[in-house]
Amino acid sequence: MRRPSFLARLAEAWRSLFGSARRTELRPEMSRARSPAAARRAPRPSASATEIFTPTRPRTARRKLVGRAPELARILDALRHDGAHVVLYSERGRGKTSLANLVATKLRAGGIVVVRHACEADSDYDTIFRALAADLPHTLVASAAGEEQWLPAGPLRPQDIADFANRLACPQLVCIIDEFDRVRDEGTRTRLADTIKLLSDTARPVQFMIVGVAATLEHIIGQHPSIQRNIVPVHLPLLSDAEITAMLVDGGREIGLTFGQQVILFVLGLARGMPYMAQLLGLRLSQSALNRGAGEVDATDLALCIDRMIDDAQSGIGLRYAEITSGARDRDMVLTLRAVATAPQDRFGCLQATRDGATATIDRQRVSVASVDRLLDGGILQPTADPTLLRIGDRPLMYHVLLLALRDSVATAAERARADRATDLQSLGAAAD
Ligand SMILES: Nc1ncnc2c1ncn2[C@@H]1O[C@H](COP(=O)(O)OP(=O)(O)O)[C@@H](O)[C@H]1O
Ligand SMILES: [Mg+2]
Repeated sequence: MRRPSFLARLAEAWRSLFGSARRTELRPEMSRARSPAAARRAPRPSASATEIFTPTRPRTARRKLVGRAPELARILDALRHDGAHVVLYSERGRGKTSLANLVATKLRAGGIVVVRHACEADSDYDTIFRALAADLPHTLVASAAGEEQWLPAGPLRPQDIADFANRLACPQLVCIIDEFDRVRDEGTRTRLADTIKLLSDTARPVQFMIVGVAATLEHIIGQHPSIQRNIVPVHLPLLSDAEITAMLVDGGREIGLTFGQQVILFVLGLARGMPYMAQLLGLRLSQSALNRGAGEVDATDLALCIDRMIDDAQSGIGLRYAEITSGARDRDMVLTLRAVATAPQDRFGCLQATRDGATATIDRQRVSVASVDRLLDGGILQPTADPTLLRIGDRPLMYHVLLLALRDSVATAAERARADRATDLQSLGAAAD
């Protein structure tokens, strides 16, 4: 039996939601007063929606992460016990900085000194190391000189850092360098690799955790075979559906809301494992429910949330979508984008795509190779080492495609539900006759 398509499944979910939530209709201006039944059902709030759902902020120790236990354990083992350096990488929004925050908290709780720096496009070896040194407590450097003289003047070299490590008055120092992908200067990558080699070879107690947006280890630190064995690479995967469900259910409990099962299904379908998107949907949906004075997030909130997110995207992504699809007239491109946006992905966001002549197949949907190639040219899809696997290179565009497709299917499902109701009424009328 053919598996129903992703959108068909969502539309079906919508239909049952809509059916079971007939009382809600799609009216945002619905009663603001919480019904006694809803109030009885709703848990007591202990925090606000913006405290719990944080799409624009990495998580800090105050707010729990869902999942990530295996990655946390691997990173802590590497830093605490193996004397290794860590490279944590993934696409944007998967939770690297949030995890780095948790790593820093755990290390500090165990008495390890941690310094941090987030790079910018014009950061280089010099600015990064001076910023890390400035983050060190004064008491930890055996030097009579002020902080600005801890490191020699002039361009820093790896040997300067090794010498500096000798003057540290702490048994272990971990330096977290975030957003390393932003650094444009290639020399910085080479010098950092040389520093890692020097520190590792001489067993000095300074370790790095390098964090950045990249699809492979080489993308972030460059090709440096000499340091491969000193590095533990951690490619951060997408969250599982169970983890995203936990994010919604636990978050909802803290703000006094429940997320119905069907709503959760929608969030899972839209977020596709991305914590950023799950947080954004969690926030928008709960704000909408709270505005209505409701204790449960339902179909009304979902419809409003989809509309709002499409509107929010209008300027940038909306234009890009219009350009790529020639204002949605290029049907093959519209279908290709839909196939890409809905195809099952592996834990690292890659999807199966095969080609045969002028036809490509993505998740059993046949599209033209020309459209796939255009997406590859534009970086919306990226090749991988495996010729049958493609990586999604533009998540915001994919979300837009999904939201548009969903709005269509929601409208269709709502119409169908209305038609069903009309039929119900007619048959009721007929029965009464
Ligand atoms: N494990 C997690 N549990 C809950 N929320 C998360 C988790 N990881 C990330 N987030 C949320 O996802 C968003 C992106 O996280 P962030 O750490 O900034 O990602 P990155 O550094 O990879 O771009 C933030 O809103 C953050 O609050
Ligand atoms: Mg980050």
